[in-house]
Amino acid sequence: MTLYADTPKTLSIADLRAMKQAGEKITSLTAYDASFSALLDLAGIDVILVGDSLGMVVQGHNSTLPVTIQDMAYHSRCVSNARKRAFVVADMPFASYATPAQALNNAAQLMQAGGAQMVKLEGAKTDVIEFLVEQGIPVCGHLGLLPQSVNRIGGYKVQGREPAQAQKILEDALAIEQAGAGLLVLECVPALLAAEITQNLTIPVIGIGAGSACDGQVLVLYDMLNITAGNRPRFSKNFMAEADGVSDAVKRYHHAVKNGQFPAAEHTY
Ligand code: KIV
Repeated sequence: MTLYADTPKTLSIADLRAMKQAGEKITSLTAYDASFSALLDLAGIDVILVGDSLGMVVQGHNSTLPVTIQDMAYHSRCVSNARKRAFVVADMPFASYATPAQALNNAAQLMQAGGAQMVKLEGAKTDVIEFLVEQGIPVCGHLGLLPQSVNRIGGYKVQGREPAQAQKILEDALAIEQAGAGLLVLECVPALLAAEITQNLTIPVIGIGAGSACDGQVLVLYDMLNITAGNRPRFSKNFMAEADGVSDAVKRYHHAVKNGQFPAAEHTY
């Protein structure tokens, strides 16, 4: 084993930036365990997000709020053990990054115990992002619909329809990049706003319900496999409908994003 043993096989943030520059779409899905992690990796998915959506789709809660840092570290480790090529991002759970010191302590668990390559946190917490990046922890921002703020927002709603709110999201995106984030997830915002943000940022922007102009797309795995109880969100698609099994559904998603066929107008606000 050499000092640089892992670097040739696993994608890095530099690879994701190069994809943006080359105009190659980045594919991403959530996963929470080793079996799906290996399956996504083999299908060519570029980024596996260990989302705190696991609180809903794995643990059966009705929001992401009950998810703990121990839960996230455990599921991140399951995922990171099983992938070879994909870049692994893990969510910082609710109330785990209120101060830079608290965020450092918790992010370190996701990277050391969880094996994540980057942590994702919701909102324009630029002081926290700056501090984590200074300590060598890569950060993914998350703007638009912020599921951890569901009680403040009053539901899961499209964000940035009003001009003032759209302007604030654009300014926050620029501030997050300025603070040193390496990726940005944009959730449930109008496609025009997402396109403007994607154009104005040098870091890759991954959309979910944010239109086709983003540098990449992410979906909750169980939604696109049609195994989520309840209604599938408008921005998602059942890739199992025409697929010959789970692996084929993931490959269909991967190709549809790479070719610009997903998301279509019907998945967009
Ligand atoms: O937790 C999650 O799955 C996420 C995606 C919705 C982006 O953050």
